[in-house]
Amino acid sequence: MRTRIVLQLRLHQLRLMFPVSRPRRLRTSPAIRRMVRETTISPDQLIYPLFVTNGTGVRTPIGSMPGCFQESVDQVVRHAQEVVGLGIPAVILFGIPRQKDEIGSSAYDDAEAVQTAVRALKDALPELMIITDVCLCEYTSHGHCGVVRNGDVDNDPTLELLAKEALSHARAGADMVAPSDMMDGRIGYIRQALDQNGFEKIPIMSYAAKYASAFYGPFREAAESTPQFGDRRSYQMDPANRREAIREVALDVEEGADIVMVKPALAYLDIIAEVKQSFDLPVAAYNVSGEYAMVKAAAERGWIDGDRVMLEMLTAMRRAGADLIVTYFAKDAAKLLQ
Ligand code: PBG
Repeated sequence: MRTRIVLQLRLHQLRLMFPVSRPRRLRTSPAIRRMVRETTISPDQLIYPLFVTNGTGVRTPIGSMPGCFQESVDQVVRHAQEVVGLGIPAVILFGIPRQKDEIGSSAYDDAEAVQTAVRALKDALPELMIITDVCLCEYTSHGHCGVVRNGDVDNDPTLELLAKEALSHARAGADMVAPSDMMDGRIGYIRQALDQNGFEKIPIMSYAAKYASAFYGPFREAAESTPQFGDRRSYQMDPANRREAIREVALDVEEGADIVMVKPALAYLDIIAEVKQSFDLPVAAYNVSGEYAMVKAAAERGWIDGDRVMLEMLTAMRRAGADLIVTYFAKDAAKLLQ
């Protein structure tokens, strides 16, 4: 075919049209593709979220997040054993408390689910890194991430409560705290509270650029944290803003964050890339509940290959610059990567 075309044209200069550079040479076999692959992903970079509730023997499936559960402490320990077995170094804990009130006081109750789980996990699996999500929305009766006054979350009184929560997690033995509330100044406030109480070695992973996203839908079922009025747009970021994300991250870095997070991940790869370029701290991405649910739902219908889409998404987050990824896919991914 090719020879025929060349003969027909017969023009010397047209023969030069065949390419000298052939990028396909480096794609011809699995071995060469492996050798020139620019982005890698391993279980080392994954953090698995767990939802802890009170009681024993509880393992309630979360409908919109197949494979995820609300679990009592005994079940969380069993689940975490599986996570460790898969080579995943860390989990992040979310709590579903016995009771909720206006100020979310269960958040700093040393006998609540998260604190109890931290103690049990440290005991059973000392090598596992335990991160705790620090926020009030799971603990307040109105479902907002802080104290509400005149229909809005009041920033400064909320800082005090967040610091109490972080201290309670640290006392239980948490290895790292992760504030996800988006109050101004909370990283500095929590850092000081930790330091003044002898927890200067506990790092803070800050949800630094957290957007007011519709992708959190399934999580609110999982953590029972849907706002009872309004939404979170007066504290979480506007999805339209890029430069503001850099300002938010810069503030958290100044205030003492050790790891900075961008959340959600998939629709915010540009933000991950820019944060990675602008700062020299490790960058985490939160591959959120809606991103997980979309893939699971489409795969269930046979519309996409769920495993391949998952790895493609996680690879894209790494390629954009994420050093760490918080993901409900952590176990699925680790199984494929083993
Ligand atoms: C708590 C919190 C949320 C998520 C993590 N921490 C929910 C929210 O802000 O509404 C979302 C995680 C996910 O969707 O997977 N503030």
